Amino acid sequence: VHGAADGLAGVAVDRFADVLVVHAGERSPGDARGGTGVAIDALVAALVELVRPRAVYVKGRPRRPGRAGPAERAAAAPAAPAWGEPAEAVVVLEHGVRYEVRPAAGLSVGLFLDMREVRAWVREHARARRVLNLFSYTCAFGVCAGLGRAARVLNLDASRPYLRWGRANYALNGLPVEERDFVYGDALDWLGRLARRGERFELVIVDPPSFGSTRVGGSFSVERDYGRLVGAAAHVTAAGGILLAATNHGGVSVARFDELVGRGLAAAGRLGRRVGRWHEPARDFPVPPHGRPYLKIQAVELD
Ligand SMILES: C[S@@+](CC[C@H](N)C(=O)[O-])C[C@H]1O[C@@H](n2cnc3c(N)ncnc32)[C@H](O)[C@@H]1O
Repeated sequence: VHGAADGLAGVAVDRFADVLVVHAGERSPGDARGGTGVAIDALVAALVELVRPRAVYVKGRPRRPGRAGPAERAAAAPAAPAWGEPAEAVVVLEHGVRYEVRPAAGLSVGLFLDMREVRAWVREHARARRVLNLFSYTCAFGVCAGLGRAARVLNLDASRPYLRWGRANYALNGLPVEERDFVYGDALDWLGRLARRGERFELVIVDPPSFGSTRVGGSFSVERDYGRLVGAAAHVTAAGGILLAATNHGGVSVARFDELVGRGLAAAGRLGRRVGRWHEPARDFPVPPHGRPYLKIQAVELD
Protein backbone atom coordinates (compact mmCIF):
# COMPACT_ATOMS: atom_id res chain seq x y z
CA VAL A 1 0.00 0.00 0.00
CA HIS A 2 1.52 3.26 -1.07
CA GLY A 3 -0.42 6.28 0.16
CA ALA A 4 -2.82 8.33 -1.91
CA ALA A 5 -2.03 6.42 -5.11
CA ASP A 6 -3.54 3.33 -3.43
CA GLY A 7 -6.44 5.26 -1.90
CA LEU A 8 -4.94 5.64 1.59
CA ALA A 9 -3.39 9.09 1.82
CA GLY A 10 -0.48 9.28 4.25
CA VAL A 11 -0.33 5.53 4.90
CA ALA A 12 2.10 2.93 3.58
CA VAL A 13 2.18 -0.79 4.26
CA ASP A 14 5.24 -2.94 3.60
CA ARG A 15 5.14 -6.71 3.66
CA PHE A 16 8.25 -8.57 4.81
CA ALA A 17 7.59 -12.31 4.54
CA ASP A 18 4.75 -12.86 7.05
CA VAL A 19 5.17 -9.55 8.90
CA LEU A 20 3.46 -6.29 7.94
CA VAL A 21 4.81 -2.84 8.75
CA VAL A 22 2.32 0.04 8.59
CA HIS A 23 3.71 3.55 8.26
CA ALA A 24 0.92 5.72 9.56
CA GLY A 25 2.12 9.25 9.04
CA GLU A 26 2.34 11.74 11.85
CA ARG A 27 0.75 10.01 14.77
CA SER A 28 1.53 9.69 18.40
CA PRO A 29 0.68 6.44 20.22
CA GLY A 30 -2.92 6.48 21.34
CA ASP A 31 -4.12 8.62 18.41
CA ALA A 32 -6.82 6.76 16.55
CA ARG A 33 -6.22 8.62 13.31
CA GLY A 34 -3.26 10.91 13.56
CA GLY A 35 -2.73 13.24 10.63
CA THR A 36 -3.74 10.73 7.98
CA GLY A 37 -7.52 10.56 8.34
CA VAL A 38 -7.24 6.76 8.17
CA ALA A 39 -8.50 4.79 11.18
CA ILE A 40 -5.38 2.78 11.90
CA ASP A 41 -7.00 0.16 14.14
CA ALA A 42 -9.57 -0.61 11.45
CA LEU A 43 -6.80 -0.77 8.86
CA VAL A 44 -4.82 -3.23 11.00
CA ALA A 45 -7.93 -5.39 11.48
CA ALA A 46 -8.56 -5.38 7.71
CA LEU A 47 -4.93 -6.30 6.97
CA VAL A 48 -5.07 -9.18 9.46
CA GLU A 49 -8.22 -10.49 7.80
CA LEU A 50 -6.80 -10.14 4.30
CA VAL A 51 -3.17 -11.23 4.68
CA ARG A 52 -3.24 -13.41 7.84
CA PRO A 53 0.20 -12.18 8.91
CA ARG A 54 2.22 -13.30 11.91
CA ALA A 55 2.46 -9.72 13.19
CA VAL A 56 1.58 -6.14 12.25
CA TYR A 57 3.82 -3.29 13.41
CA VAL A 58 2.66 0.31 13.26
CA LYS A 59 5.10 3.18 12.89
CA GLY A 60 4.19 6.79 13.32
CA ARG A 61 6.29 9.67 12.07
CA PRO A 62 7.99 12.28 14.20
CA ARG A 63 7.01 15.77 13.15
CA ARG A 64 10.52 16.57 11.93
CA PRO A 65 12.13 13.16 11.29
CA GLY A 66 15.63 14.51 10.67
CA ARG A 67 15.68 16.34 13.97
CA ALA A 68 13.75 13.96 16.22
CA GLY A 69 15.65 12.79 19.28
CA PRO A 70 15.81 9.15 20.41
CA ALA A 71 12.79 9.51 22.74
CA GLU A 72 10.57 10.96 20.03
CA ARG A 73 11.69 8.33 17.53
CA ALA A 74 11.07 5.52 20.02
CA ALA A 75 7.58 6.87 20.77
CA ALA A 76 6.79 6.95 17.05
CA ALA A 77 7.93 3.34 16.57
CA PRO A 78 6.81 1.12 19.45
CA ALA A 79 8.87 -2.08 19.83
CA ALA A 80 5.76 -4.21 20.33
CA PRO A 81 3.53 -5.19 17.40
CA ALA A 82 0.08 -3.61 17.17
CA TRP A 83 -1.18 -7.11 16.46
CA GLY A 84 0.27 -10.64 16.69
CA GLU A 85 3.44 -12.15 18.07
CA PRO A 86 6.66 -10.13 18.42
CA ALA A 87 9.02 -10.81 15.51
CA GLU A 88 12.55 -9.72 16.39
CA ALA A 89 14.11 -10.64 13.05
CA VAL A 90 12.67 -11.89 9.77
CA VAL A 91 14.81 -13.12 6.90
CA VAL A 92 13.36 -12.06 3.57
CA LEU A 93 14.31 -13.15 0.08
CA GLU A 94 14.50 -10.66 -2.80
CA HIS A 95 15.79 -11.76 -6.21
CA GLY A 96 17.49 -14.67 -4.46
CA VAL A 97 19.28 -12.43 -1.92
CA ARG A 98 18.66 -12.70 1.83
CA TYR A 99 18.21 -9.71 4.10
CA GLU A 100 17.53 -9.52 7.81
CA VAL A 101 14.59 -7.26 8.57
CA ARG A 102 13.97 -6.21 12.17
CA PRO A 103 10.35 -5.07 12.39
CA ALA A 104 10.77 -3.73 15.94
CA ALA A 105 14.03 -1.88 15.27
CA GLY A 106 12.65 1.64 14.90
CA LEU A 107 11.26 3.74 12.08
CA SER A 108 13.33 1.90 9.45
CA VAL A 109 13.42 -1.88 9.60
CA GLY A 110 16.51 -2.67 7.52
CA LEU A 111 15.44 -2.79 3.87
CA PHE A 112 13.97 -0.08 1.64
CA LEU A 113 11.68 -1.95 -0.73
CA ASP A 114 11.60 0.85 -3.29
CA MET A 115 15.29 0.24 -4.11
CA ARG A 116 14.64 -3.33 -5.27
CA GLU A 117 15.34 -2.70 -8.96
CA VAL A 118 18.46 -0.68 -8.18
CA ARG A 119 19.82 -3.46 -5.97
CA ALA A 120 19.35 -5.86 -8.91
CA TRP A 121 21.18 -3.39 -11.18
CA VAL A 122 24.10 -3.11 -8.73
CA ARG A 123 24.41 -6.87 -8.63
CA GLU A 124 24.49 -7.01 -12.44
CA HIS A 125 27.04 -4.21 -12.82
CA ALA A 126 29.44 -4.81 -9.94
CA ARG A 127 31.59 -7.47 -11.56
CA ALA A 128 35.33 -6.78 -11.14
CA ARG A 129 34.62 -3.22 -9.95
CA ARG A 130 35.86 -1.65 -6.75
CA VAL A 131 32.64 -0.45 -5.07
CA LEU A 132 32.24 2.34 -2.53
CA ASN A 133 28.85 2.12 -0.79
CA LEU A 134 28.39 5.44 1.00
CA PHE A 135 25.54 5.81 3.54
CA SER A 136 25.48 2.02 3.45
CA TYR A 137 22.84 1.55 6.19
CA THR A 138 22.44 -2.28 6.48
CA CYS A 139 24.72 -2.81 3.46
CA ALA A 140 22.03 -4.07 1.08
CA PHE A 141 23.85 -2.57 -1.93
CA GLY A 142 27.11 -3.96 -0.55
CA VAL A 143 25.65 -7.46 -0.38
CA CYS A 144 24.45 -7.17 -3.99
CA ALA A 145 27.85 -5.91 -5.13
CA GLY A 146 29.58 -8.76 -3.28
CA LEU A 147 27.27 -11.35 -4.83
CA GLY A 148 27.86 -9.68 -8.21
CA ARG A 149 31.59 -10.46 -7.83
CA ALA A 150 32.88 -6.95 -7.15
CA ALA A 151 36.66 -6.75 -6.81
CA ARG A 152 36.20 -5.04 -3.47
CA VAL A 153 33.30 -3.44 -1.54
CA LEU A 154 33.76 -0.71 1.04
CA ASN A 155 30.62 0.03 3.08
CA LEU A 156 30.63 3.30 4.96
CA ASP A 157 28.09 4.57 7.49
CA ALA A 158 27.88 6.90 10.46
CA SER A 159 26.20 4.21 12.57
CA ARG A 160 28.05 1.26 14.10
CA PRO A 161 24.84 -0.70 14.81
CA TYR A 162 23.81 -0.44 11.13
CA LEU A 163 27.25 -1.65 10.05
CA ARG A 164 26.93 -4.64 12.42
CA TRP A 165 23.55 -5.35 10.82
CA GLY A 166 25.30 -5.13 7.45
CA ARG A 167 27.77 -7.80 8.56
CA ALA A 168 24.83 -10.02 9.49
CA ASN A 169 23.43 -9.51 5.97
CA TYR A 170 26.81 -10.48 4.48
CA ALA A 171 26.90 -13.64 6.59
CA LEU A 172 23.32 -14.54 5.61
CA ASN A 173 24.44 -14.59 1.98
CA GLY A 174 27.64 -16.53 2.54
CA LEU A 175 29.88 -13.51 1.86
CA PRO A 176 33.14 -13.22 3.80
CA VAL A 177 32.89 -10.61 6.58
CA GLU A 178 36.11 -8.60 6.72
CA GLU A 179 36.41 -5.73 9.20
CA ARG A 180 38.08 -3.42 6.69
CA ASP A 181 35.04 -3.56 4.40
CA PHE A 182 32.82 -1.89 7.04
CA VAL A 183 33.96 1.61 7.84
CA TYR A 184 32.40 3.82 10.47
CA GLY A 185 32.47 7.55 9.85
CA ASP A 186 31.17 10.60 8.09
CA ALA A 187 30.81 10.30 4.32
CA LEU A 188 32.25 13.71 3.37
CA ASP A 189 35.08 13.31 5.84
CA TRP A 190 35.98 9.88 4.40
CA LEU A 191 35.63 11.02 0.79
CA GLY A 192 38.34 13.58 1.52
CA ARG A 193 40.58 10.96 3.11
CA LEU A 194 40.11 8.42 0.31
CA ALA A 195 40.82 11.08 -2.33
CA ARG A 196 44.03 12.15 -0.56
CA ARG A 197 45.16 8.54 -0.40
CA GLY A 198 44.57 8.21 -4.15
CA GLU A 199 41.95 5.48 -3.72
CA ARG A 200 39.62 5.06 -6.69
CA PHE A 201 36.45 3.05 -7.26
CA GLU A 202 34.62 1.96 -10.41
CA LEU A 203 31.21 2.19 -8.72
CA VAL A 204 30.36 4.81 -6.10
CA ILE A 205 26.90 4.76 -4.50
CA VAL A 206 25.61 7.99 -2.97
CA ASP A 207 22.27 7.60 -1.17
CA PRO A 208 22.19 10.04 1.75
CA PRO A 209 19.30 10.60 4.14
CA SER A 210 17.07 13.54 3.22
CA PHE A 211 18.18 15.28 6.37
CA GLY A 212 20.92 14.37 8.77
CA SER A 213 24.13 15.57 10.27
CA THR A 214 27.73 15.43 9.24
CA ARG A 215 30.57 15.90 11.67
CA VAL A 216 32.50 18.09 9.26
CA GLY A 217 29.71 20.08 7.68
CA GLY A 218 27.13 20.44 10.45
CA SER A 219 23.60 19.59 9.31
CA PHE A 220 23.13 17.97 5.91
CA SER A 221 20.42 19.09 3.54
CA VAL A 222 19.89 17.58 0.08
CA GLU A 223 18.98 20.90 -1.47
CA ARG A 224 22.07 22.62 -0.13
CA ASP A 225 24.70 19.88 0.06
CA TYR A 226 23.95 17.28 -2.60
CA GLY A 227 26.12 18.93 -5.23
CA ARG A 228 29.08 19.07 -2.84
CA LEU A 229 28.62 15.40 -1.99
CA VAL A 230 28.50 14.41 -5.69
CA GLY A 231 31.63 16.48 -6.34
CA ALA A 232 33.50 14.76 -3.50
CA ALA A 233 32.29 11.34 -4.70
CA ALA A 234 33.40 12.16 -8.28
CA HIS A 235 36.95 12.73 -6.99
CA VAL A 236 37.20 9.06 -5.98
CA THR A 237 35.40 7.68 -9.04
CA ALA A 238 37.83 6.13 -11.52
CA ALA A 239 37.79 7.13 -15.20
CA GLY A 240 35.07 5.01 -16.79
CA GLY A 241 33.57 4.39 -13.34
CA ILE A 242 29.91 4.87 -12.47
CA LEU A 243 28.51 7.22 -9.89
CA LEU A 244 25.07 6.13 -8.68
CA ALA A 245 23.30 9.13 -7.15
CA ALA A 246 20.02 8.78 -5.27
CA THR A 247 17.66 10.78 -3.11
CA ASN A 248 14.23 10.04 -1.70
CA HIS A 249 13.61 13.67 -0.80
CA GLY A 250 10.10 14.39 -2.11
CA GLY A 251 10.71 18.14 -2.04
CA VAL A 252 13.34 18.00 -4.78
CA SER A 253 11.99 17.72 -8.34
CA VAL A 254 13.55 15.47 -10.97
CA ALA A 255 14.82 18.54 -12.86
CA ARG A 256 16.32 20.03 -9.70
CA PHE A 257 17.98 16.74 -8.81
CA ASP A 258 19.55 16.53 -12.27
CA GLU A 259 20.79 20.07 -11.79
CA LEU A 260 22.32 19.29 -8.37
CA VAL A 261 24.11 16.22 -9.74
CA GLY A 262 25.29 18.15 -12.82
CA ARG A 263 26.65 20.97 -10.70
CA GLY A 264 28.55 18.59 -8.44
CA LEU A 265 30.18 16.89 -11.42
CA ALA A 266 31.06 20.24 -12.99
CA ALA A 267 32.63 21.46 -9.75
CA ALA A 268 34.80 18.33 -9.72
CA GLY A 269 35.73 18.96 -13.35
CA ARG A 270 34.18 15.68 -14.52
CA LEU A 271 32.03 14.95 -17.53
CA GLY A 272 29.73 11.99 -17.72
CA ARG A 273 26.86 10.36 -19.56
CA ARG A 274 23.79 8.98 -17.90
CA VAL A 275 23.56 5.21 -18.19
CA GLY A 276 20.56 4.61 -15.92
CA ARG A 277 17.64 6.37 -14.33
CA TRP A 278 15.05 5.07 -11.89
CA HIS A 279 12.06 6.24 -9.93
CA GLU A 280 10.02 4.15 -7.55
CA PRO A 281 9.00 0.80 -9.07
CA ALA A 282 5.58 1.58 -10.55
CA ARG A 283 3.89 -1.64 -9.53
CA ASP A 284 4.44 -1.38 -5.80
CA PHE A 285 4.90 2.37 -5.46
CA PRO A 286 2.46 4.03 -7.85
CA VAL A 287 2.74 7.79 -8.27
CA PRO A 288 -0.66 9.42 -7.58
CA PRO A 289 -2.41 11.29 -10.39
CA HIS A 290 -0.91 14.79 -10.56
CA GLY A 291 1.83 13.66 -8.17
CA ARG A 292 5.53 13.38 -8.91
CA PRO A 293 8.00 10.64 -8.04
CA TYR A 294 9.70 11.03 -4.66
CA LEU A 295 12.57 8.68 -5.51
CA LYS A 296 15.17 9.99 -7.95
CA ILE A 297 18.17 7.91 -8.93
CA GLN A 298 20.63 8.18 -11.75
CA ALA A 299 23.74 6.31 -12.78
CA VAL A 300 26.38 8.43 -14.53
CA GLU A 301 29.46 6.97 -16.21
CA LEU A 302 32.32 9.41 -15.78
CA ASP A 303 35.00 10.13 -18.40
C1 LIG B 1 18.75 6.59 3.46
S1 LIG B 1 19.80 5.57 4.46
C2 LIG B 1 20.70 4.78 3.20
C3 LIG B 1 19.98 3.59 2.61
C4 LIG B 1 20.86 2.61 1.88
N1 LIG B 1 21.59 3.23 0.81
C5 LIG B 1 20.03 1.46 1.38
O1 LIG B 1 19.58 1.49 0.23
O2 LIG B 1 19.77 0.53 2.17
C6 LIG B 1 20.90 6.73 5.18
C7 LIG B 1 22.08 6.16 5.97
O3 LIG B 1 23.03 7.22 6.07
C8 LIG B 1 23.70 7.13 7.30
N2 LIG B 1 24.26 8.45 7.54
C9 LIG B 1 23.66 9.58 7.95
N3 LIG B 1 24.51 10.61 7.99
C10 LIG B 1 25.72 10.12 7.56
C11 LIG B 1 27.00 10.70 7.35
N4 LIG B 1 27.20 11.97 7.59
N5 LIG B 1 28.00 9.92 6.88
C12 LIG B 1 27.78 8.61 6.63
N6 LIG B 1 26.59 8.01 6.81
C13 LIG B 1 25.57 8.75 7.27
C14 LIG B 1 22.64 6.68 8.27
O4 LIG B 1 23.22 6.07 9.41
C15 LIG B 1 21.83 5.71 7.40
O5 LIG B 1 22.29 4.41 7.56
